[in-house]
Amino acid sequence: MPARARPRWSIWAAAAAAAAAALAADASAADSREAGRRLFEGQTPLAAQISGQGLALPPQASRCTNCHAEATDARASEPNRAFAPVLSPDGLRRSQPRRGGPPSRYDVASMCRVLRTGIDPASVIVDRNMPRYELTDADCNALWVYLTEATR
Ligand code: HEC
Repeated sequence: MPARARPRWSIWAAAAAAAAAALAADASAADSREAGRRLFEGQTPLAAQISGQGLALPPQASRCTNCHAEATDARASEPNRAFAPVLSPDGLRRSQPRRGGPPSRYDVASMCRVLRTGIDPASVIVDRNMPRYELTDADCNALWVYLTEATR
């Protein structure tokens, strides 16, 4: 192979990789939203347990829609949905007192933390009825995009 062939190949490869990354970035917001919807509705199961019990919850029990309605959801006004807070973009992002703690708001990192550990942005521990989840950063991000997406 001539000495200059490798650098030229590398430049094309780098350009192709950059183009692919740009396309992926376009697609990734929509992909995350769809991935988040599937996680929220339980089509993609998440590993979870009830705090302190150490027992894995079956996927049918751990899906978010079992307990949480979304603001756009007609079920949000059903009395049995008052069991868990309605999750809306504004309710998550707006600074407000939660569970008697000082005002706090969620971002992606604090939502990951509450899902994994049950500790909210004001460091208050949520009720144990809210399961503790084992989820990846990508799962968290997808749920965050889905729940806070401005067009919803
Ligand atoms: C078995 C019922 C149940 C399931 C399933 C459940 N939650 Fe919860 N969740 C709760 C309850 C109850 C609370 C309120 C806890 C409190 O106020 O102490 C809560 C609180 C939360 C909060 C905190 C809201 C706030 O304003 O501070 C977030 C965020 C949340 N849940 C997201 C989720 C997501 C995302 C899923 C699915 C991955 C999920 N929950 C699954 C019952 C549930």
